[in-house]
Amino acid sequence: MSAKTILITGSTDGIGKATARELLAHGHRVVLHGRNEGKGQKVIKELAQETGHEPSRYFNADLSSQNSIHRLADELAAFFPLLDVLMNNAGTYQPERHVTEEGAELTFAVNYLAPFMLTLLLRDTLQKSASARVVNVASTAHRDVYRLEWENLQGERRGTIRGMRIPSPSSP
Ligand SMILES: NC(=O)c1ccc[n+]([C@@H]2O[C@H](COP(=O)([O-])OP(=O)(O)OC[C@H]3O[C@@H](n4cnc5c(N)ncnc54)[C@H](OP(=O)(O)O)[C@@H]3O)[C@@H](O)[C@H]2O)c1
Repeated sequence: MSAKTILITGSTDGIGKATARELLAHGHRVVLHGRNEGKGQKVIKELAQETGHEPSRYFNADLSSQNSIHRLADELAAFFPLLDVLMNNAGTYQPERHVTEEGAELTFAVNYLAPFMLTLLLRDTLQKSASARVVNVASTAHRDVYRLEWENLQGERRGTIRGMRIPSPSSP
């Protein structure tokens, strides 16, 4: 694979950070994202030291906020007129129900609404690349799709976690 410009959301920790490390080591231009400026700057230094390649830039944005996603897309487009890969990796798991400033359930907002919105906002920038890709990091929880309550995606009903029925011993 020739050198690509790759944005990884949630690259200050876990899978995103490990992916950033590997891609940098293979000579790609890696754009980091996180929600904590201090942590982001530390990760830039750490990855540069470990791989010998400095990440292209770090962007800070809380993906639970749609205003913040809009700002992130504008800032990204200003710095990177062309993007080859968007890796939607940032995610969270909230066992309790929390609601964002726009009134969406937090896990649903960060894991589903944010990647959808960011992808649409960056579509023009991605389409300038002949080999554009969007990679969505998901979960084996997709196997539980039969438990999804489509009319309760915000998890407002009691006895549910984020719109999924809690399985009873007799559930499939
Ligand atoms: N690890 C697993 O076993 C597993 C299983 C199933 C699915 N997944 C999926 O894999 C992806 C990565 O998971 P991981 O285990 O690597 O998680 P992780 O170690 O907790 O890292 C998550 C990353 O997302 C960032 N993030 C979380 N909430 C955010 C928000 N509101 N706005 C902006 N950034 C936010 C975190 O920032 P901070 O550094 O500030 O926390 C961090 O950089 C997620 O989409 C997750 O759902 C993981």
